[in-house]
Amino acid sequence: MRVLVTGGAGYVGSVCAAELLSLGHEVVVLDDLSTGNRDAVPEGARFIEGNLLDDSAAALEGVDAVIHCAARSLVGESVEQPAEYWQGNVVSTLALLEAMRSAGVRNIVFSSTAATYGEPEQVPITEDMPTRPTNTYGATKLAIDQAITSYCVAYGFAATSLRYFNVAGAHLGHGENRVVETHLIPLVLQVAAGHREEIKVFGDNWPTPDGTCVRDYIHVGDLADAHVLALESNEPGVHRIFNLGSGEGFSVQEVIDVCREVTGHEIPASLAPRRAGDPATLIASSALAENELGWKPKRTELRTVVADAWDFLGSLGDAAHSARR
Ligand code: UFG
Repeated sequence: MRVLVTGGAGYVGSVCAAELLSLGHEVVVLDDLSTGNRDAVPEGARFIEGNLLDDSAAALEGVDAVIHCAARSLVGESVEQPAEYWQGNVVSTLALLEAMRSAGVRNIVFSSTAATYGEPEQVPITEDMPTRPTNTYGATKLAIDQAITSYCVAYGFAATSLRYFNVAGAHLGHGENRVVETHLIPLVLQVAAGHREEIKVFGDNWPTPDGTCVRDYIHVGDLADAHVLALESNEPGVHRIFNLGSGEGFSVQEVIDVCREVTGHEIPASLAPRRAGDPATLIASSALAENELGWKPKRTELRTVVADAWDFLGSLGDAAHSARR
């Protein structure tokens, strides 16, 4: 297959592109490099620097299927700058879908998110639970899911939305390398590497066993497997939506402890106020993906996720560290 990976210079996109290449597929990457890195585009992929609004049609030439990862994806920023998110996520994706319709390319896997559910009534979260996003990021991803559903019904698109929980780790030499980092595991590891003084723990009085927030960390290599399985099994007229997590929750404190074990560093931590919009606990049920996609996460140990992220951080040059803000 020849697959267009939008956002293929970003974290999940570059891993998916590398996975597809390793399986013998051809890959075209479309990325405007607004948050991605040119260096993250895997060798062997054709790279088009451009945006979804102007360049989707050209990028789709000769393409059989699309993995759509390009997006703005910071929860806090989405609340402060909603226009960037409605334009950058929803309007841009509608342009991509229209370009796909014109080109007759109807097979798509979309990067959706657990943030579409908002504060869950219970965990683990299943796909039939209410979608009540508590931030603009989640709202834009939910709007796109709904647009894709109607494109499947009316135009015969063959689609899967994958609702990621907390993605982490590295795979095939690709990992998290953002200029502005807000995610727990890379931040903790940057402390271990001596690039930051300490990690701030956002609240220790949540209704969880140790008082810190609980999340479901999924290895990015397992996530890439799910994308490939979804692409290969999409059916015209059908929009499938699957949660993807490892099914186990770890608290912020547990994550820091595992990072201490893996890195052998002390990792100073201090208590900070709760971060606005954080739910206490997010854990996925991935039973539907396991049953219907035949997906089985292989790297479910948090230690493996952290060790792979740590190796990746060590592989980055000084330029990557000094570029961070
Ligand atoms: N945290 C800290 N200190 C930090 C950073 C994070 O204590 O410096 C805590 C957060 O409060 C949260 C946990 O670590 O409890 C995980 O935070 P992340 O920022 O790593 O991830 P989130 O759970 O906020 O968000 C992730 C994705 C979103 C997605 C969401 C849905 O980044 O894109 O999961 O589950 F929407």
